[in-house]
Amino acid sequence: MSKIKNVEYGLEKIFEGAQDFLPLLGTDYVEFYVGNAKQAAHFYKTAFGFQSFAYKGLETGCKEYASYVLKQDKIRLVLTTPLNSKSPINEHLTKHGDGVKVVALWVEDATKSWEETTKRGAKSFMKPTTEKDEYGEVIRSGIHTYGDTVHIFVERKNYKGIFLPGYEKWESDYNPTPVGLKFIDHMVGNVGWGEMNQWVKWYEDVMGFVNFLSFDDKQIHTEYSALMSKVMSNGNGRIKFPINEPAEGKKKSQIEEYLDFYEGPGAQHIAVATDDIIKTVAQLRERGVEFLSTPPEEYYKAVPVRLEEHNHELREDIETLKGLGIMIDADEEGYLLQIFTKPVEDRPTLFFEIIQRMGARGFGAGNFKALFESIEREQEKRGTL
Ligand code: FE2
Repeated sequence: MSKIKNVEYGLEKIFEGAQDFLPLLGTDYVEFYVGNAKQAAHFYKTAFGFQSFAYKGLETGCKEYASYVLKQDKIRLVLTTPLNSKSPINEHLTKHGDGVKVVALWVEDATKSWEETTKRGAKSFMKPTTEKDEYGEVIRSGIHTYGDTVHIFVERKNYKGIFLPGYEKWESDYNPTPVGLKFIDHMVGNVGWGEMNQWVKWYEDVMGFVNFLSFDDKQIHTEYSALMSKVMSNGNGRIKFPINEPAEGKKKSQIEEYLDFYEGPGAQHIAVATDDIIKTVAQLRERGVEFLSTPPEEYYKAVPVRLEEHNHELREDIETLKGLGIMIDADEEGYLLQIFTKPVEDRPTLFFEIIQRMGARGFGAGNFKALFESIEREQEKRGTL
C-alpha cells in the first residue's frame, strides 16, 4: 500500500474541456425507494442523526405513496414507499430491494437541462413539469442513467416552501441530535461487466462531465478479487460520480456480488463529508451504525511511512483513528480520513462512506486493499466470495 504519487487528476481538462451546457449547483436530494419509509426514517434519524424535515402522504392528500424527507446540513434524503400494490414503485422494490432511485441535481433551468441532455442521447424519465402550491413553483425534469436509477433536475428559484409542492413540514417529537454530516462528497455507481467505459462516455457526452481520476484492476485488487473505477466530475467539481465495474479475480468481486443482489446496476455508496470524523464516527458507533472491520495492526503501523510529507499535518492521533477503525490516505495535496459502513439493507447492496478531506482530492486509493479485504471477510460470511 502506498500513497498515490504524481496522480493525474485531469483537472485542467475539467476547466478547459468541460462544457457548460449543464451547469449544476449541487446535489438537491437523494430519493430511496424502501419497503417501509416510516421505519427507514426512524433508522436514519436514530442511527445517522438526520432531522425530520418534510412529509407527503395520506395526511397531505397523497394516496399513492408516502415520502419522508430527512435533512442534515446540506444533505436531503427522501424515503418513499408505495401505499398500494398497483404503484410502479413495487416493481423497483421487488427487483432491487431498498435502494437509491433518484439522484436529484439542483439546476438554474430544469427545462434547458432536460433539452440539452436528451438532445445528446439521454433517455427521458420525466418531461419538464411545473408543480405549484401557495409557496411558488418548482420545475423538475428527469433522465435515466445506469440501471433503473434516474437523475432529476430541480429548478427551485421561484419556490419558498419547505421542500417541493405537496410536501408539508414534518414536525416530530423525536429529534435525535445530528452527528456532523455536512454534504454529499461523491456517489458511486456499480455497472455491469465491460460497461464502465460506456457509462464514462455517457457522462461525458450527455452531461458534459470529465474523467477526473481512474483506477484499473492492477491498482484495485486483493489476492481474490478486483474492480475498475473511473471518477466522473462535472465542470465545477461539485458533483463527483465514480463508476465501478467488476474485474476478473480468483473469487467473486464485491461489485459482482452487488450486481447479483441488486439485480443490475445501481448506486453502490454515498460518501458524506464531515469536518470532525472522530466525533462523527464515535457517535455513529454509539448509535448502532455498523462499520466494516477495522484494518489490522500492520495497516496503522505503516501509516507514518505512507503519509510521508503529510505526517506533520496529521492532526489526529493514530491510536484514536485505530480505535474507531478510521482509515487514512494521502495524495500530493494533503490527506483524507474515511470509513465505510456495512450495507444498510439485508441485501449486500448500498452502504455509506464517511469522509473528511484534509486537502486530498482522491478517493483513498491507498486504502483500497485494506478496505476490500475487509469486504471480503464479510462476503465470506455471506457465502458470496
Ligand atoms: Fe467512496
